[in-house]
Amino acid sequence: MTPRTPIVTIDGPSGSGKGTISRAVAIRLGWHFLDSGALYRLVALAGLKRGLKPDDVEGHARVAASLDVRFEVTPDGGELVLLEGEVVTDEIRSEVAGQGASRVAAWPGVRSALLDRQRAFARPPGLVADGRDMGTVVFPGADLKIFLTATPDERALRRYKQLKDKGSDVSLAALSREITERDLRDSTRTVAPLKPAPDAEVIDSTGLTIEQVVDRVMAAGRMRALWA
Ligand code: C5P
Repeated sequence: MTPRTPIVTIDGPSGSGKGTISRAVAIRLGWHFLDSGALYRLVALAGLKRGLKPDDVEGHARVAASLDVRFEVTPDGGELVLLEGEVVTDEIRSEVAGQGASRVAAWPGVRSALLDRQRAFARPPGLVADGRDMGTVVFPGADLKIFLTATPDERALRRYKQLKDKGSDVSLAALSREITERDLRDSTRTVAPLKPAPDAEVIDSTGLTIEQVVDRVMAAGRMRALWA
């Protein structure tokens, strides 16, 4: 029998550092990486490009089921996301795409249409999956589940710096408001709400460096004999 692919899930609210930490852990381990938030962002963006009404539930579920997306790595190690052949790497990171993602992510038809696609990322030698429901719904049998948090102020500040670095003109107050709104919507929706799996290890990253958080995840995996 082929051995099961080991899976680490890293869930948490926006700006908790999941993306950065998950990527760093995947690189350290040489494992695959799933950025599930990117899929929801892509559904929202594809809907927009196809001229769907923002409240067209069925239309967005169809978009999710037929999403033509490729994740590639540029020669210098950067990320490249292609939607129907068009580069949308920066576009999907915008706050508009984030808000759109949070809206379509509340619809069960969209979530179920993305399930198999997400599970297909689990390939040897292992997978690090980043999202909101990785440990609760998509990979309930994961070998290590992390729930990453940070105070709302710290999360808004991180997002602010990230967007500023990319040259976006954003206000910290507006970002703070959006993060609070998104948290509320993500944690109160009826399907796959944002909450730690009962067997998740909660790490509060407030005041910790990226390295410190990565070290904690690595230590948690070592404790479970997932790696040496
Ligand atoms: O993580 P990211 O900010 O890219 O996610 C964008 C939105 O997609 C989240 O606010 C959330 O509503 C949704 N999402 C989700 N389930 C996931 C990943 C993201 O509902 N596994």
